[in-house]
Amino acid sequence: MMEGSPGPPLMTAAPASAPAAAAGYERGDWASAFRNVGVELDGVELRAARGSIPTELVGTLYRNGPGRLERGGQWVHHPFDGDGMITALRFDAGKATLRNRFVRTEGWLAEEEAGRFVYRGVFGTQKPGGPLANAFDLRLKNIANTHVVRLGDQLLALWEAAEPHALDPETLDTRGITLLDGVLKKGEAFSAHPRFDPGHHGAARMVTFGVKTGPSSTVRLMEFAAVDDPASGVRAGQLIAERRDSFKGFAFLHDFAITPNWAVFLQNAVAFNPLPFVMGQKGAAQCLASKPGEAGQFWLIPRPGSAAAAANPKPIQVPAPEGFVFHHLNAFEDEATGALVVDSIFYDDFPSIGPETDFRTIDFDTIPAGRLQRCRINLEAARRGGASAAAAVTTEVLEERCCEFAMVNPHRQGLQARYAWMAVAGRERGNDPLQAIEKLDLASGERRVWSAAPRGFVSEPVMVPRDATASEDAGWVLVPIWNSARCGSDLVVLNAADLSEQAVVELPLAIPYGLHGSWVAG
Ligand SMILES: [Fe+2]
Repeated sequence: MMEGSPGPPLMTAAPASAPAAAAGYERGDWASAFRNVGVELDGVELRAARGSIPTELVGTLYRNGPGRLERGGQWVHHPFDGDGMITALRFDAGKATLRNRFVRTEGWLAEEEAGRFVYRGVFGTQKPGGPLANAFDLRLKNIANTHVVRLGDQLLALWEAAEPHALDPETLDTRGITLLDGVLKKGEAFSAHPRFDPGHHGAARMVTFGVKTGPSSTVRLMEFAAVDDPASGVRAGQLIAERRDSFKGFAFLHDFAITPNWAVFLQNAVAFNPLPFVMGQKGAAQCLASKPGEAGQFWLIPRPGSAAAAANPKPIQVPAPEGFVFHHLNAFEDEATGALVVDSIFYDDFPSIGPETDFRTIDFDTIPAGRLQRCRINLEAARRGGASAAAAVTTEVLEERCCEFAMVNPHRQGLQARYAWMAVAGRERGNDPLQAIEKLDLASGERRVWSAAPRGFVSEPVMVPRDATASEDAGWVLVPIWNSARCGSDLVVLNAADLSEQAVVELPLAIPYGLHGSWVAG
């Protein structure tokens, strides 16, 4: 419900015996979402338990996230190691249908048959048998669990360290690993965070990247047509531009941002020591450690064919503020000042779970909270390098409340946006699970919050614009909820402008906290 507003709560009320903990939630309620998805459903018709589904909402919400967290009595070490499970919610004429499917990866098939983990997970899940059974097994299990997007006639289930899996957009059947018509080499890294350019250079594009990392790192920037263009004969899914740039140092790049001229990367100040991974003691991602006192770097790569590429053949490097970033909200070129502006969610340090810790019992007070921060990069100073570059970035905190999974209206991708929608913690200060949705006015700082607390927990919200010409906040926000009161998942439809509840749809599924998703209109 709206914070501070009267009216019935969204969620079933907590029982009277539930303690009103300072944090506003029960750990057991939060942890109850961690479970296996046991069924695959086909086109199940859904009805709104409360409110009504807007008739103008026509399209499909695709979600990806870990759907299998335990095998043979052994739990994954971190939910990010769970196998990708796709949920498709199709909306049309005020009705909704649901389908869900695990991605049939090589690892999922092998482990389904074996009834136990036969691969190590990047985030620390080990095969049974201790370090001896895990040492020197350096295979990566492509679990296809991070994001799902439509490109041409296929869905792509993405996992950043390897190639995408192609799925049928209707049936969600796995077609298999795709090299995108020969664009990728076998095993090539392909980010799980494409950005959809709404038309900065003509037709819409999907801009994405892959990283080959080591003592130096190479970023491959790729731009794909997102729609068919009969005039040029270019088809959706076709690679239309790319470039490669190498940088010193190890790179952990999960996300990036785009503007019409630039692809913006933030290389976090982290070190990678693979020895514990090789020796079977840790997962590869557990071998990342922040370098205290060292700043990261912005890597500004001119997009192929842009005016910036003509003026700057080489990327520009700029020292970044301290902190660790997984996700960016957006970036834009400020016409008034010429600055490049990047909004990102910063953590004080790299959040990780130690080898001995059970993720279901994690103490939120001991891990850093995300805050939304704006970095304004003076491009002229950045180009001059040296001391000028060191002073080229000024910062401003846009949101102190613990937040994640932020987005702007997709039509403002890469452009200055007025509004952001994001998941936030139930409390205004401190680190807690994400239980609410915030709409932030980036110009005035005005906030609106809709909360699922105390017993509801949110996954990434997806803002669906009404249409390209409507006002920027016209549309809906689709929010997957873990409803611990009924041990099931809900999908809540909010009005994007005022966050009023439009519909609450109770799903016949219990889905663990998800990662990313996307909306395909029509
Ligand atoms: Fe992500």
